[in-house]
Amino acid sequence: MFQTLLPQPPDGLLTLIGLFRDDPRNSKIDLGVGTYRNAAGVTPVVEAIKAAERILLEEQQTKAYLGPEGDQRFVELLTPIVFGAADAHAGRLVGVQTPGGGGALRLGGELITAAQPGAKVWLGTPTWPNHRPVLEAAGLTVAEYRYFDPATQTLCFDDMLTALSAADPGDAVLLHGCCHNPTGAELDPAQWDAVAQLLAERGLTPFIDLAYQGLGGGLEADAYGVRRVLAAVEEALVAYSCDKNFGLYRERTGALFALARDADAAPVVFGNLLSLARVNWSMPPDHGAAAVRIVLDSPELSRLWRTELDGMCRRINAVRDALAAADPRLAFLSRQRGMFSQLPVSPETVAVLRRDHGIYMAGSGRINLAGLQVTDAGIFVDALRAVGGLPEES
Ligand code: LMR
Repeated sequence: MFQTLLPQPPDGLLTLIGLFRDDPRNSKIDLGVGTYRNAAGVTPVVEAIKAAERILLEEQQTKAYLGPEGDQRFVELLTPIVFGAADAHAGRLVGVQTPGGGGALRLGGELITAAQPGAKVWLGTPTWPNHRPVLEAAGLTVAEYRYFDPATQTLCFDDMLTALSAADPGDAVLLHGCCHNPTGAELDPAQWDAVAQLLAERGLTPFIDLAYQGLGGGLEADAYGVRRVLAAVEEALVAYSCDKNFGLYRERTGALFALARDADAAPVVFGNLLSLARVNWSMPPDHGAAAVRIVLDSPELSRLWRTELDGMCRRINAVRDALAAADPRLAFLSRQRGMFSQLPVSPETVAVLRRDHGIYMAGSGRINLAGLQVTDAGIFVDALRAVGGLPEES
């Protein structure tokens, strides 16, 4: 049977992990996969999570199944952080724990397919390379519009509005809640207001990927788009990841929230999420969500987490500012937010940076700012200069 299988290309981003690990140069710099690194170059276990894990080890009495909905207290505690006031959606909002934000995207895509087989989802390009395959695997048809132009580092907001104005009622629209991956180019509040109004007017269903809350402008500012859009529309999906803002990466900790038309529809939506989760992973892994739940249930650990998250956010923004200060042609970096920006460099230049300078980044030119030390900004900019990798002055 397996002889009918075709060889699959390796995942470009994940391949970088092994290439970087195997590079013997001490001076190598990893700007590849999106993991935060602190000033010592380490992806630390967040202290608040470490403390929660100790409590979990001491106090957990059972590992009996929780069910396909996962840890509902975890979902409940995340709700005000994402959506603001707990009663903001009066019985219309339901949520289930998922294996990371990727699991939430897949589950959300399958919910749309279950409701409307063959539905279309709009993606702004460029986007996270896994968005399209995950949503197609969930049964959706993908349509694209231009969101950002890396050559000029400008947001193509008019293209976005034109595409959404032409979308059919019932189409889904994938939006990055904050810290756009791969470009760092966020919508500003006025643009979110315009998008929210258009989605509502055209009867489009927003599917918001919120994987970096707190790493752009802080927890509240990063929730502006989600809250604004959900206040305007009848139905919506939000795929949430705790992998970055709680530093839980390999624990695969996330949630999918669905906003139903009314309180009567909400239990039906929830029931469908449970059925779909059951045939995918049956039940999500517990550990990461249990640790987040313990953090958010404790005022003291919550404070510690928020302080640590602010520290990560500040460090990323300091790296952005250091690069912008090192060369005016990188000024756009300090206007963008989150872990990523996408430099207008060719795959060939990316390969030369890796070979000659030990600098690792995605083939698209995406860099993970959270992988760079402020003190290495000059080295990085010099390498970009040497390979002709700096854009026109911005
Ligand atoms: C990234 O974009 O680097 C991360 O979300 C990791 C991944 O799975 O691609």
